[in-house]
Amino acid sequence: MLYQSFNSERKHLTSIEDLANSEVESLLAQGQIYRESLDKNQPVEQVLQGISIANLFFENSTRTRISFELAEKHLGGIVVNFAASNSSVSKGETLLDTVLNIVAMGVQMVVIRHQSVGAPHFLAQKVNANIINAGDGTHEHPTQALLDALTLKQHFGDFKGLRVAIVGDILHSRVARSNVLLLNKLGVSVRFCGPPTLLPPSLTTIGAEVSYSLEDSLEWADAVITLRIQAERQNTGLLSSLADYANLYQINEQCLSKLSKIPIILHPGPINHGVEISNTLMDSTHTLILDQVTNGVAMRMAILNFLNYTKNNN
Ligand code: CP
Repeated sequence: MLYQSFNSERKHLTSIEDLANSEVESLLAQGQIYRESLDKNQPVEQVLQGISIANLFFENSTRTRISFELAEKHLGGIVVNFAASNSSVSKGETLLDTVLNIVAMGVQMVVIRHQSVGAPHFLAQKVNANIINAGDGTHEHPTQALLDALTLKQHFGDFKGLRVAIVGDILHSRVARSNVLLLNKLGVSVRFCGPPTLLPPSLTTIGAEVSYSLEDSLEWADAVITLRIQAERQNTGLLSSLADYANLYQINEQCLSKLSKIPIILHPGPINHGVEISNTLMDSTHTLILDQVTNGVAMRMAILNFLNYTKNNN
């Protein structure tokens, strides 16, 4: 089903910051429609029939890359996948030349994950295609925030009065940044929690309070988004060891047993087993981790439909 009230002229999805509240509402509504279609295994309108889409991943990915590809195929798109390691990037070709060449082949939508902050914004200004940010460095991961919001909405019904704690490596996390921006738009109270070296007080300026106490934050929260410790970005001695982090900030049965109510737990993945969350808790009914992954396909279908619809109706 095509959601008919997309009231927007948006061409790109490069950051949550840009989105109007009405656009967020439309995307969540469409994401829910697609989630129900996926659950019932119902075919959906082939709104991307004849549209070529390239998935450009300059950084590794499992969930985002595969869910975008599935979403594009569910909607009837022509899909090409690109990995930097076996492309002419390895011969020194620039990002802009790479994308200009791909667009010259007739690609109309580009999904990009890149290690450089701002790469999707740069391309949005330079190439004639819809650009979707699938994660740019430590900056933003807007499609993850939207699928997380869909997961929260399904669980709680609405966002009124909701409190969400985001726990872990806030400093390096594009997921934390996109989530706080989106949750603020939805009226949700957000708290960041983590070790001081990974949670500078300056981050409060983006709309979350800060706590260094896991127990206090879990007691406060209705939902917790625990983040992966990004071992590949920890080259500046900000953490003594993963074991030390786990001792203080791992979410496990022991810390939940002290609470008056247990929050639901989300994790964007990939998970460091036994670090951010205990293995037994990961598989328990307190977590919605695989539900987030299913919502990833539905929400990315909604985003693709949205950008294609606004392109055709403006
Ligand atoms: N959540 C997320 O972005 O996972 P991937 O790195 O596997 O895409």
